[in-house]
Amino acid sequence: MPGVMTKKVAVIGGDGIGPEVVAEGVKVLEALREIRGWDLELLPFELGAERYLDDGTTFPADVAETIEKECDAVLLGALGDPRVPDMKHARDILFGLRFGLDLYCNVRPIVCLHDRLMPLKRYSAHDCDFTVFRENTEGIYVGMGGHFKKGTADEIAIQEDVNSRKGVERIIRAAFEFAKAHGKKTVHMADKHNAMKHAHELWHRCFLEVAEEYPEIEAKHVYVDALCLFLVLDPSQFEVIVTCNLFGDIVTDLGAALQGGMGMAASGNVHPGKVSMFEPVHGSAPPLTGKNVANPLATVLTVGMMLSHLGYEGEEKILTELVRQAVHTGHCTAEVGGDLGTRETGDWIVSRLREMVG
Ligand code: IPM
Ligand code: MN
Repeated sequence: MPGVMTKKVAVIGGDGIGPEVVAEGVKVLEALREIRGWDLELLPFELGAERYLDDGTTFPADVAETIEKECDAVLLGALGDPRVPDMKHARDILFGLRFGLDLYCNVRPIVCLHDRLMPLKRYSAHDCDFTVFRENTEGIYVGMGGHFKKGTADEIAIQEDVNSRKGVERIIRAAFEFAKAHGKKTVHMADKHNAMKHAHELWHRCFLEVAEEYPEIEAKHVYVDALCLFLVLDPSQFEVIVTCNLFGDIVTDLGAALQGGMGMAASGNVHPGKVSMFEPVHGSAPPLTGKNVANPLATVLTVGMMLSHLGYEGEEKILTELVRQAVHTGHCTAEVGGDLGTRETGDWIVSRLREMVG
């Protein structure tokens, strides 16, 4: 019988295709709420380029406070608009959530759900199933630095790569904990300590130390450039990869290509046990906006991750299975080989959901 759940989820559609894909995620959540009898409140926030251009608001303190004090999770669409070339609003909102809520684990599952989506000719879908733990609160993303003699021929720009023992240790530990909980045999840590002899020496040393606490899991170091090579040559060797903020950003786009494109890539920005944020990895895709062509499946997978974070792991499995079926039966958008629109894909997922669990 349905469990009782009192949860509040903040919903930020954002820019471009963000609101379109989030609408499909919300449809799925509303259907589950009805079927399961959940006490689940969705709290929409109008934030994004439109609001910024209208009244200068990016990420107001009262919204941040409401999210932190009253919500259990945030569902975010995408941010970015050609009318805001410096991405100010996007950084304020995205980094406001990531840093403000101390969401140190950017968890990005790289799972290919159908052979058709696998771009490597020697491999099939089952060869690509790993999870990247991207550090999400440090590195070059903290924005420490500045310009000197800006705009002159002698201009200098500096941006510091910030790595704390605490920050490095907690993401590495999260990767090992995930591996342990999911029966994975290896954790790869990707750094660049051959060149970054201070910051990434810390990563390497910390990795070896934390690994000792998990003797049942094989700890493997790989330089990040070599990781890119191995991901293309043989993705099947990876189960869990942990890396810094910038490398994680880059490697997960490569990963998205292995799973069928950005429209299939889900993510959670997580602080275990605390309010966390969930977003599809793709951007706002301005050229696709308003055409009902954006792939909502990354958002459906992302909603699954969010439900798992809220304690509903079974529902994550169901949503992943439905996305797999959507791709297998062609009930998906053209980008992943189907002929449905964004809304119709969401409708199909909801109707199958009702057949399966309703
Ligand atoms: C991502 C995005 C962001 C990042 C951008 C929009 C700042 O690429 O979530 O992967 O670099 O983290
Ligand atoms: Mn990225």
